Amino acid sequence: MKAKIVLLPGDGIGPEVTAQAVRVMEAVARKFGHEFLFDSKRIGGIAIDETGDPLPQETIDACKSSDAILLGAVGGPKWDDPNAKTRPEAGLLRIRKELGLFANLRPIVTFDELLDSSPLKREIIEGTDILFFRELTGGLYFGPSGTEELPDGQQRAYSTAVYTTNEVERIVRMAALAARKRRGKLTMVDKANVLEASRLWRRISAKIMKEEFPDLEYEVVLVDSMAMHLLSRPKSFDVVVTSNMFGDILTDEASMLPGSLGMLPSASLGSDGPGLYEPIHGSAPDIAGKGIANPLATILAAAMLLRHSLQLDAEATAIETAVKRVLAAGCRTADLAPKGSATLGTVAITDKVLEQL
Ligand code: NAD
Ligand code: IPM
Ligand code: MN
Repeated sequence: MKAKIVLLPGDGIGPEVTAQAVRVMEAVARKFGHEFLFDSKRIGGIAIDETGDPLPQETIDACKSSDAILLGAVGGPKWDDPNAKTRPEAGLLRIRKELGLFANLRPIVTFDELLDSSPLKREIIEGTDILFFRELTGGLYFGPSGTEELPDGQQRAYSTAVYTTNEVERIVRMAALAARKRRGKLTMVDKANVLEASRLWRRISAKIMKEEFPDLEYEVVLVDSMAMHLLSRPKSFDVVVTSNMFGDILTDEASMLPGSLGMLPSASLGSDGPGLYEPIHGSAPDIAGKGIANPLATILAAAMLLRHSLQLDAEATAIETAVKRVLAAGCRTADLAPKGSATLGTVAITDKVLEQL
């Protein structure tokens, strides 16, 4: 098949890990007889530096006419001034909104080969297989916000969590459909004891689950409690659905189950149009430019891209199997290896993945 894939490398380690995922996709194209046309566009800090806008129109247009998008990461200390008039992260939020990517799928799967890389006990994490559905275009990230000057000279700043019936319905339904194809359990995470928007989530998801998914096991957990349950009983979760901000925070926490943020891919999907695929980690300014970033999250995101946007299931599985074999052979980037042991850099571990492919 022929497919047009837009690359948004972004900032920090973004370009380093994206380049490795491209090598892997090119190898897959050769092996399976496909033609992937890659088109690299600017987003984030580099786009601000070169155009003044973290999401230039040219990037939006290219994304809209693509089959799928692979993103590295955006942001970094250079653009972190809280007084700056725009930020790299604004570009990422806008592309999600422009493309209607309301569902962010974040699989949290422990690899048997990596059980010792996690700071958590083996018996707790072994066999963990969770699929998070993080709502991605609503809530605190997109509600009314601003900063005002008060008469007494103080400033008053606010961000508002807003959700509508439709926004909650579509993500809960999508998550429940996924649960039905998996182990049949959905956990909905909110803060309904305090937040009005969470009470809407609670009412709507209860109704949908009762009327449309009575066959599924349905559990509701408050987000503070979930932060603890994720570490104490990760195996008890199948599909988890939650709002934008809670999903952001819980999945970074959950990365400690497989052992590193550098292992977690994600897919952002809408009801139609191209999907956007990215690692869940950021631009990692502390290790950028050193050639030591773990590219496996982005390589696994490329596998998700092939599966979800291009329907290339065998090709996606080939990448995932290659990654598992590389880990089984003991290859580790620095984030996964015990202190003092031998590690591979970003390019070298990708070479191993290519050998396995
Ligand atoms: P981060 O995810 O960039 O890094 C957190 C820690 O994890 C760092 O110690 C980093 O070195 C490590 N890490 C992350 N990815 C790694 C990888 N692939 N291999 C090895 N180690 C890895 O989070 P942060 O430091 O809080 O944020 C840095 C910048 O990234 C901020 O500007 C933030 O806004 C941005 N950010 C962007 C995205 C995105 O583009 N999707 C996501 C999260 C954060
Ligand atoms: C993520 C990131 C982004 C988010 C930031 C960079 C806007 O943390 O993709 O998880 O909060 O959604
Ligand atoms: Mn995040």
